[in-house]
Amino acid sequence: MKVLFVCLGNICRSPTAESVFRAKAQESGFDIEFDSAGTSHYHCGESSDMRSMEHAKARGYAMTHFARQVIAADFANFDYIFAMDLKNMAHLQMHCPDDHKHKLKMLTDLCSMKHPGFVPDPYYGNGYDFDYVIDLCEDAWDGFRTLINK
Ligand code: 4NP
Repeated sequence: MKVLFVCLGNICRSPTAESVFRAKAQESGFDIEFDSAGTSHYHCGESSDMRSMEHAKARGYAMTHFARQVIAADFANFDYIFAMDLKNMAHLQMHCPDDHKHKLKMLTDLCSMKHPGFVPDPYYGNGYDFDYVIDLCEDAWDGFRTLINK
């Protein structure tokens, strides 16, 4: 199984989700591949935002991703594609072939905690905002296990 997370810059939210899900899957012994990508090319080739990396590290997650943009092949290659916000989802909906559209979901659809319906962009935010991204990702993991019946 292959899972892709998508945000705008691919330096904050989606690589955080990738790292949290990879660590949780490893803990549980699940054979699942995780990757992330951005709808923009703004930060292609860059490592993740230092603030995301520091907040993730403090909670036990290593972020080693280098940013890349979503490519057409992603829609066929991945089994699930989770968008972080509604703009990301609109971009994916616009580019995704009809026969793969069932793979597109909002990450927050997996969450059981109170949330605004998307993962808020922490880029112009503070430490609380970066921690909240991790909270949502950890919560989404439980929903993901239910989704895949594991
Ligand atoms: P991300 O956050 O989409 O969670 O990676 C952002 C990173 C960079 C920018 C916006 C959002 N930016 O405008 O450069």
